[in-house]
Amino acid sequence: MTVSREFAYSIPKAELHLHLEGTLEPDLKLELAQKNGIDIGQTTVEEVQASYQFDSLTSFLAVYYPAMNVLQDEDDFYRLGAAYFARAKDNGVVRAECFFDPQAHTSRGIAIETVIRGYYRAIEEARAQGISADLILCFLRDMSAQSALETLQAALPYKDMFVGVGLDSDERDNPPQKFAECFALAKDNGLRVTMHCDIDQVGSIDNIRTALTELGTERLDHGTNIVEDPALVELVRERGIGLTCCPVSNSFVTDDMKGKEIVELLGKGVKVSVNSDDPAYFGGYVADNLLALAEKEGLNEAQIAQLARNSIEISWASDEEKAQMLASLEEFVASH
Ligand code: ADE
Ligand code: ZN
Repeated sequence: MTVSREFAYSIPKAELHLHLEGTLEPDLKLELAQKNGIDIGQTTVEEVQASYQFDSLTSFLAVYYPAMNVLQDEDDFYRLGAAYFARAKDNGVVRAECFFDPQAHTSRGIAIETVIRGYYRAIEEARAQGISADLILCFLRDMSAQSALETLQAALPYKDMFVGVGLDSDERDNPPQKFAECFALAKDNGLRVTMHCDIDQVGSIDNIRTALTELGTERLDHGTNIVEDPALVELVRERGIGLTCCPVSNSFVTDDMKGKEIVELLGKGVKVSVNSDDPAYFGGYVADNLLALAEKEGLNEAQIAQLARNSIEISWASDEEKAQMLASLEEFVASH
């Protein structure tokens, strides 16, 4: 192994591409199903684990959304968030920006307030334990633009509880421009903006260009397809746009982890970072993603440190917090 487990786990890092709903581990899913009297079709942790099977984004989402039925009350959302932060701490995460999908819950009759308040309790608890944390509200791009707009309007009374908005779910036939009005309203309300530009989609390059030039996205979630277009690489590098890459997830929904692309972009000075996406489903939290990438591509400690440095620099923490986190990162690197 090129980088030790201890190095990958302990180096201070930010996690910027993490779906809270994607942290639903089989044991918690089963426990919440039993508590809420919901038949999920499995009765043991092993059976739930065995049901977490997919080979594409579409087949993943077909398992992912039905699983959320076990989340019913505010405490369930809190428990899910709190379980993630316990793992994040073990993984050396000093800053977490966590996606959540309100429409996946409001569409089954859960109030948006229940979702936001539950997750926010976990955020406040993480902060009290020394992890800088915020929520990012995502719109489901395979639902209508009107639904996204209504979701944002319903969430605005709670806008102090989330730092920005994102766009996720199935990208096919759902380009970013569909949500231009919604993202403009988010910006008018002082919210930060990011969006998924998933791997190897039909029209990936066009969607990335639109996200950057028309929707003013500040980061690209995934986004490694920019390697196909040198002008886009240059635009992203010059603007300091961050990419939130997820190697283990990539290896599930495409045919490889896109490690070559991540390393090429890192070498060109693009602010790529490594994250875990939906770790309960893909089997790896953020440090495991760094280790998997290091092993596959033969990365050294300096490259892992650069990935961690990028993650903090492209985060939406305050300048003061970033300076503190970067100082502790440099101290860690100097002592290794
Ligand atoms: N929702 C959860 N994970 C996702 C991903 N990797 N891409 C799109 N939507 C998602
Ligand atoms: Zn994602």
